[in-house]
This record gives sequence, structure tokens and C-alpha cells, in this order.
Amino acid sequence: MRKDYLQAAVEIAQEAGKILIEEFSRPLDIRYKGDEVDLVTQADKRSEQYIVSRINEFFPGHAITAEEGTGQDTASEFRWHVDPLDGTTNFAHHYPCFCVSIALAQRGTPLAAAIFNPYYNELYTAARGEGATFNGKNIGVSKVATLSTSLLCTGFPVRNRRLSPNLQYYGEFTQQTHGVRRDGSAALDLACVASGRFDGFWEFGLNKWDVAAGVLLIEEAGGKVSDFEGKPYQLGGPVILATNGLIHEEMRKVALQIYRRTRTPG
Ligand code: IPD
Ligand code: CA
Ligand code: CA
Repeated sequence: MRKDYLQAAVEIAQEAGKILIEEFSRPLDIRYKGDEVDLVTQADKRSEQYIVSRINEFFPGHAITAEEGTGQDTASEFRWHVDPLDGTTNFAHHYPCFCVSIALAQRGTPLAAAIFNPYYNELYTAARGEGATFNGKNIGVSKVATLSTSLLCTGFPVRNRRLSPNLQYYGEFTQQTHGVRRDGSAALDLACVASGRFDGFWEFGLNKWDVAAGVLLIEEAGGKVSDFEGKPYQLGGPVILATNGLIHEEMRKVALQIYRRTRTPG
């Protein structure tokens, strides 16, 4: 792995974080993508514009998938997955749980990742085969070995909320664990599983830019990522289950039961 991929991801994420902090102290200009829950701010757009231009400067010709649509398709086997502001709803309500998430994948396999919360100055990084770090120190997933003693997190989609099955899962896991948090930033949720703050995470309908960096962090921190059937998670797949590995099977079985129950008519 070329070390400079990670260095570039880190540098760009930290600089984009400065833009978010600048915007955080300004009156917000909130727009809606479609309906009144899918928010986009000037901060999302400025951050993305900066990130895309820097990637192009460092690695001309690489492909970029960026949430606000300013990325580019090229014939390159390298693709950057960019969420310029993960946690936009938190940001818009001045709840300081948001981040920049940047990952580089080669033919679909994440190689380097940076997730940066500029408000708390918290930086998570990972490079394939080289481990994961939090503010420069190596991290590993938690050692919690049972679902009943675990702390989980999840999220709810902003689109098609009425069709989302997640409330059923939220209720069941709340009863079977120490609790389920809902912090509003999937990238930070995954980073917190990687660093052992949370023991497991699941969510439906996430996009590649939400998860590409977090998935690499968890794998490099010794955790496990799959779908509810235990098949390896494909970036952008309909459901993600990410854990410390130790509670994976227990959590997966509960999720699968709910899935079957809620899919059975009557
Ligand atoms: C959202 C956050 C949230 C998750 C939503 C995502 P955004 O991303 O990651 O935690 O539950 O599904 O869309 O819109 O803030 O970048
Ligand atoms: Ca996101
Ligand atoms: Ca976003």
C-alpha cells in the first residue's frame, strides 16, 4: 500500500474539517433534497468542493464518488468514496456529532480511510494490512463477548422513513442489550465500533460514501462486517452488520429472526 494514499486522505479530511468548523459558527443556509428531512447545507457543498479538488490535484485520473454529486467517473481502478459531511442533520441542529469520511478503494476493496470529527478533533485512520488508529494510537475492537452486555448503535434513513423496518430491530436490540444509541453519523458509528466504544452496529440502506472508510477501520481493528446472512458485506449493500466479531453471530441470529418475522405475512 502506498503510504501517501493514507497521508492524502488524512490531510484532505483535516482541511475539510476546518471548513465545517467555519460553517458551524455561521447562520445556516439549509436546503432540502426532495422532502423536509433530507437536509443539505452550504457546509456539505463547500467541503465536497474542496475534497474533490484536492483529490484531483494529488491523484489526477482517479474516480470519485461524492455524496453531493460533484465526483467523477473515470476508467481508473482507484475510486475515492467521499462523504463531505456525515451527520448533516446533527450539524444543522448544532449537535456536534458529525465528520468528514474519505476512503480510497481499488477495484472495490478499501485501501485507505480517514474519518475526522473536527469539533472534538478526533481522527480515525486505517490502511489495509497496517491496522487502524485513533488520534495516532493503534486501536482494536472491544472484548465484550455477549449480546446481553453489549452497547450497540444504529441509524435511520432520511428517505422512505415509513418503509424502514428498523424500529422493530431497534426495539428488540434495546431489550436484549445494555442499550442502543442513535448518534446520527454512520461513519462515526462505525469508527466507534472500531475503537471499542460500541460493540456492534447495523443499518439499512446506507450508501458507499457512508461506510467505505468505517468498514476498513473495523476490519483493521479486528472486527467483522457482513450482511444478516453472514455473507461478506458488499459496499452499498442493503444492510450492514458490523461488530467486534465476538457478538457477531448472536447479533446476526437475532436480526435474522426479526427479518423473517417481519417478512412473513400475518
Ligand atoms: C446520514 C447519517 C445517518 C444515517 C443516515 C445517513 P448524512 O448521512 O450517516 O447516521 O442514519 O442513513 O444518510 O446524510 O448525514 O451524510
Ligand atoms: Ca452520510
Ligand atoms: Ca453527507
